[in-house]
Amino acid sequence: MGRITAVTAGKGGAGKTMFAVNLASCLAMKGRTVLLIDMNSGFRHLDICLGLENQVIYDIGDIIEEICTIRKAIVRDRRFPALYLLSASQNPDKAEILPSHMRRLCEKLSGKCDHIIIDTPPGAGKEWQAAVTAADSAVIVTTQDYISLRDSDSLERKLLQEGIPEISVVINRVRAGYDGSGLFPAIAEMAEALRCPVAGIIQEDENIHIAMNSGVPVVCKKDSYVTRNFLNIIGRLFETENGDENQVR
Ligand SMILES: Nc1ncnc2c1ncn2[C@@H]1O[C@H](COP(=O)(O)OP(=O)(O)OP(=O)(O)O)[C@@H](O)[C@H]1O
Ligand SMILES: [Mg+2]
Repeated sequence: MGRITAVTAGKGGAGKTMFAVNLASCLAMKGRTVLLIDMNSGFRHLDICLGLENQVIYDIGDIIEEICTIRKAIVRDRRFPALYLLSASQNPDKAEILPSHMRRLCEKLSGKCDHIIIDTPPGAGKEWQAAVTAADSAVIVTTQDYISLRDSDSLERKLLQEGIPEISVVINRVRAGYDGSGLFPAIAEMAEALRCPVAGIIQEDENIHIAMNSGVPVVCKKDSYVTRNFLNIIGRLFETENGDENQVR
């Protein structure tokens, strides 16, 4: 069975979609079969970040409403050996996705891929609950500020309540040269305040922002420090001590 990882954040705009798209792309570049699921009903973004917006015809709402098969709604990104996208609906009123829908869908799909990466909506409401319900691990994306820190702490409690055993944090949009300035929480302070481990930090970098708008994930540039950083984060998230990916759980 594949691993199911929810990428989540208490606050909108923390970098969930950025992290989900690059996490999935790195895993796919390493030869894994990866399915990205966008659970932002009415506010989907993954198709734009992958440059697949013109290929999405059906979405997860169509599967729930039995308008199409699962196979029809999944779009393949042909730049990678095996990266697939299941988009959220553009219409927020299309179909209410219940946790039971998501569990059934993930049950059917997890046997077919090594990783399912779920881009969740912000906060911890009903849609979020459906998005995380089938996950066996979660990555909380936070930014380097007290608001995000508090939200991440609350979200960690919610994830534990949802019974998600493995939770990690990634601190995004870190500005080089400011850590320890006292202007906002230091990385070490954040790591201490949160109970779950910090899997890595991602710098504020215009190349990341440009890539999000270009349809080409930033990690497609193989020899950059951003890509190396992502690969290290993936190592901390998924690899065992001997370096093998811990796929069977
Ligand atoms: N490390 C970074 N460096 C520069 N820009 C970034 C970085 N991370 C994210 N961004 C930019 O920040 C914005 C928000 O990122 P993203 O869409 O991934 O957040 P989100 O948490 O998914 O937001 P939402 O809650 O709206 O779904 C985007 O414009 C993205 O390009
Ligand atoms: Mg998003």
